[in-house]
Amino acid sequence: MTEAILLVGGQGTRLRPVTVNTPKPMVPAAGVPFLAHQIARAAAAGVTHIVMATCYLAEVFEPYFGDGSAFGVHLEYVVEDEPLGTGGAIRNAAQRLTGGPDEPVLVFNGDILTGLDIAGLVASHQEADADVSLHLVRVEDPRAFGLVPTDSEGRVLAFTEKPQTPEEIVTDQINAGCYVFRRSVIDSIPAGRPVSVERETFPGLLASGAKLHGKTEDTYWLDLGKPESFVQASADLVRGVVASPAVPGPRGEALVLPGAEVAEGAKLSGGTVVGAGARIEAGAVVRGSIVLDGATLGADTDVSASLIGARAVVGARTVLDGAVVGDGAQVGADNELRTGVRVWCEAELPPASLRFSSDR
Ligand code: GDD
Ligand code: MG
Repeated sequence: MTEAILLVGGQGTRLRPVTVNTPKPMVPAAGVPFLAHQIARAAAAGVTHIVMATCYLAEVFEPYFGDGSAFGVHLEYVVEDEPLGTGGAIRNAAQRLTGGPDEPVLVFNGDILTGLDIAGLVASHQEADADVSLHLVRVEDPRAFGLVPTDSEGRVLAFTEKPQTPEEIVTDQINAGCYVFRRSVIDSIPAGRPVSVERETFPGLLASGAKLHGKTEDTYWLDLGKPESFVQASADLVRGVVASPAVPGPRGEALVLPGAEVAEGAKLSGGTVVGAGARIEAGAVVRGSIVLDGATLGADTDVSASLIGARAVVGARTVLDGAVVGDGAQVGADNELRTGVRVWCEAELPPASLRFSSDR
């Protein structure tokens, strides 16, 4: 039996893919709330008990995830009155774990999508007889992450969260947000106050000579901090670039959920999702996007890498590329909205108001 803690909360939580009005961690990726993929992937790797550590009300999650039995796990919720930080949340959630002091405990950040071999990480943790094992990935620009240099055996040499100076950037190897802790190590985290696992626990453990083992696995890995990456994650799940048992349909170029209406002649590709009650009109071309429930894309719209909120309406011929349209917003016909643009929930943009093209 393997137990896990899923971190979903915090003041600075980056799970803010869109301005939609639904609770943020429940915004669907590939047709289901993003966390469903993490839970299903953990279950598939043999995890049987998950404690979700949140600062949100449990009412946000419980109606959908319940006791976890639909996912084949026993799911519990622990709600912090005040955000306890990553380390404090782990310590607090561990009260619900049932394993002994030497048992491995998986811990996941709730805002990453990864193809990590979870069972493999647990196995290597036990083989290395480590106190904590960390999944590490290499990235081009490590500045927004926790830097984790290791020696040739994988032993962690330092942990520098979000380096501030060029001198601190000693590696492109970063903390991928998935750990295995020896249970007794979690119990050594101070209780009842905010603790950052990245800034306090890991450096403290290293200073005291604990064995932290880094496993650099070159696998699918995406941090969902930005809406662009959330849309990308959804598209990759639909296309099967990364596997999740929670995707409600076969892998392919598009996932059209029951109750959606796609006109003949509309073209869906690149892992596009069309939610229940959404309507895609004739001539629309939609690539790698999320169209949430009840939204409408008008005739001949051209939509790429965008997130269209629930009930939003996009008028004919409008071009969206890397855009986020909030729930219930109305974007008139003949607009052109590109990279990074955010339309507020319920906002109304008149026809032919905006374009990005040059005059020539
Ligand atoms: N329950 C609870 N309480 N969860 C929290 C709290 C808290 O007070 N604070 C943060 N979390 C959760 C977030 O919801 C997220 O799932 C995870 O812990 C990490 O927190 P973030 O705020 O998203 O941190 P980050 O993205 O800046 O950096 C972290 O992730 C990177 C990888 O994506 C760090 O772990 C970095 O070292 C790492 O590289
Ligand atoms: Mg994050």
